[in-house]
Amino acid sequence: MPNIPAPVDATKTAAWKALQDHHDKLVANGISLKEWFAEDANRVDKFSFDLNDLHFDLSKNLVTEETIKLLCDLARETGVEDRRTAMFEGVHINTTEDRAVLHTALRRPAADAGKLVVDGQDCVADVHGVLDRMYAFADRVRSGEWKGVTGKAIKNVVSIGIGGSDLGPVMVYEALKPYADAGISVRYVSNIDPNDISEKVKGLDPETTLVIVVSKTFTTLETMTNAREAKAWLLNGLKASGAIDGSDASVAEAVKHHFVAVSTNLKLVEDFGIDPQNAFGFWNWVGGRYSVDSAVGLSLIIAFGPKVFEEFLAGFHDIDRYFCETPLEKNVVALMGLINVWYNNFFGAESHAVLPYNQYLHRFPAYLQQLTMESNGKSTRWDGTPVTTTTGEIFWGEAGTNGQHSFYQLIHQGTHLIPADFIAFANTANPAKDGEQDVHELFLSNFLAQTKALAFGKTADEVRAEGTPEWMVPARCFSGNRPTTSIFGVKLDAHALGELIALYEHIVFVEGTVWGIDSFDQWGVELGKQLAKQITPAFHDDEALAQQDASTQALIAFYRAHR
Ligand code: F6P
Repeated sequence: MPNIPAPVDATKTAAWKALQDHHDKLVANGISLKEWFAEDANRVDKFSFDLNDLHFDLSKNLVTEETIKLLCDLARETGVEDRRTAMFEGVHINTTEDRAVLHTALRRPAADAGKLVVDGQDCVADVHGVLDRMYAFADRVRSGEWKGVTGKAIKNVVSIGIGGSDLGPVMVYEALKPYADAGISVRYVSNIDPNDISEKVKGLDPETTLVIVVSKTFTTLETMTNAREAKAWLLNGLKASGAIDGSDASVAEAVKHHFVAVSTNLKLVEDFGIDPQNAFGFWNWVGGRYSVDSAVGLSLIIAFGPKVFEEFLAGFHDIDRYFCETPLEKNVVALMGLINVWYNNFFGAESHAVLPYNQYLHRFPAYLQQLTMESNGKSTRWDGTPVTTTTGEIFWGEAGTNGQHSFYQLIHQGTHLIPADFIAFANTANPAKDGEQDVHELFLSNFLAQTKALAFGKTADEVRAEGTPEWMVPARCFSGNRPTTSIFGVKLDAHALGELIALYEHIVFVEGTVWGIDSFDQWGVELGKQLAKQITPAFHDDEALAQQDASTQALIAFYRAHR
């Protein structure tokens, strides 16, 4: 194991015991946000934070000043500050893979070259070397200087990847659509289900399509299968239209003009037939789910241009610096992680909703699911010992107001406590009026109404006063005290989005550190991959079928009978 300190058992700390007593006292006295707001005119001020273009309101959480103090004690006792420094300095805190965790190096300014040399590598200089190549390449594609094999400019990009090589780029592409200014659209293919690629290439002209194969390892089954499918589609199309004659030389030329790659494994990229000059690298100290701001974001640079990507990186870096430099008690990034621990471990909350009140962020919850759950869905600590408490909440969500007409009922009146983050912006890319009514204000009033209803509820007396029959009163009451955090931004742009992503990356880090988890490996996805390889032959081979368990055999028998 790398030479890093063993995790502190959070449950054995003085802060944990104090938090447990504090929790029990709060519950015994009756938690009432309504009363807490009435008793303290400064509650909102005390729990509000301004960070560049983002405003955070934590006042509707089930916390008091004492809670915050104790949670910060817990962070100190479990070594959050020291491990934060270790991460930023490139210590191998990813113990099971013996790797540094340096996604924060991806957004450091070029002037920091030479300041972060890890395992003999000048990380920041290398990052900017690749960024410069990507910017030059993207400029050529965007201006039409880069041509397909028949001399036509690129109009569409198909980006092939999965997990961290897909979820980040798709989410950001959707989020920043108003900034796409080159007339180039991007389609993302991830699922190995052939339905995905078939639908995504529909209507595209191979002569004006660029394919980006994005895979950290360049071995992932889904991505490599889809990359071969895309190659076949492109070459067949070019042959059918007479654009190429199908000779080896013409095929190689077509691949050179229409395929580029993003990977840490440049040898396999070359083996696939992609010109190494058209490959953009990153490094094993960038985890897949932490990679959207690496070369994995190439499709975004093509769609939005280098300037927007620079602003995106600056947003991340601003949060990194804030997270490092701000004392815990005033550090909203650390506090959001610690408050999640509070709900998870002391209130038994098993899930956490993320509810963006901006349609452009509709893929943000899906993106966060990988970031949070692949990172902290673990039962083993970074030294191989079992965790000592529950870990890893289930993150989920949906863009407002769609969620309101779907699952909010359960958040308001169900039996589960579901802390929720609401994310909204003061300005919209698409102002609209419905008569005299500003539609964005109508939308924002829903965001405010939901957090208000969740916090303060509706009493039986209020329900009765509306003339509700007595037997129906309980069904129409709202308990309140359902915790929310509001993140209110000026507008959804590249900088704000970079900030939001970095915020959640560090929330994950804080929670993982308190629990003693290596948030940067993902062994839990391996078994399924291995078994899929073993099962594939069983569809046609009786010997392979006989080696399967009874249930798998029966399912394959159904398949054989019906196809
Ligand atoms: O889901 C497992 C995983 O390893 C992720 O961590 C990663 O983002 C994804 O697969 C894709 O891997 P690659 O970029 O190597 O194709």
